[in-house]
Amino acid sequence: MWDILPVLRNPEVFSDLNDILYETSKSVPQVDCVVGLEARGFLFGTILAQKLQVPFVPIRKKGKLPGEIVSQTYELEYGTDCFEIQKGSIAKGQKVLIIDDLLATGGTMKAACQLVTKVEADVVLCLCIIELQGLKGVEKLDKQFKSLITFD
Ligand code: PRP
Repeated sequence: MWDILPVLRNPEVFSDLNDILYETSKSVPQVDCVVGLEARGFLFGTILAQKLQVPFVPIRKKGKLPGEIVSQTYELEYGTDCFEIQKGSIAKGQKVLIIDDLLATGGTMKAACQLVTKVEADVVLCLCIIELQGLKGVEKLDKQFKSLITFD
């Protein structure tokens, strides 16, 4: 199983990784908001949002977020799951960078893109640290995608 968590135990490596994510985020001309995906997208997304000086907004699994929510169901290998975002957390037309630790089948990132689109914002970049290329998750996405490390 791919595990990003050891990186967080090494402050120097974690800091370097956050710097690289920040530099990579500059490949798009404008980011108004960073959206992080539960759970590991939060670890990197909050720091990236701070570096970019833009809001951070979490997308969480069903039933975790308080207040009014907008939801999106998505397919898993076995069954379905549901992603949610707080209503009004992203303004219409905002340019959104979505961040997660890993792209595998791409189902999670695709659902996040659908949710951001549902609230009438624009996904300008999907950013992951690791991409499992053999699973061809990127083919599920119709947005710009970047990863830092790829594995077959
Ligand atoms: C992992 C990973 C991504 C997702 C990628 O999360 O952190 O979010 O799977 O898989 P996919 O591209 O095949 O959709 P997980 O489902 O383990 O949830 P968690 O981070 O909340 O534990």
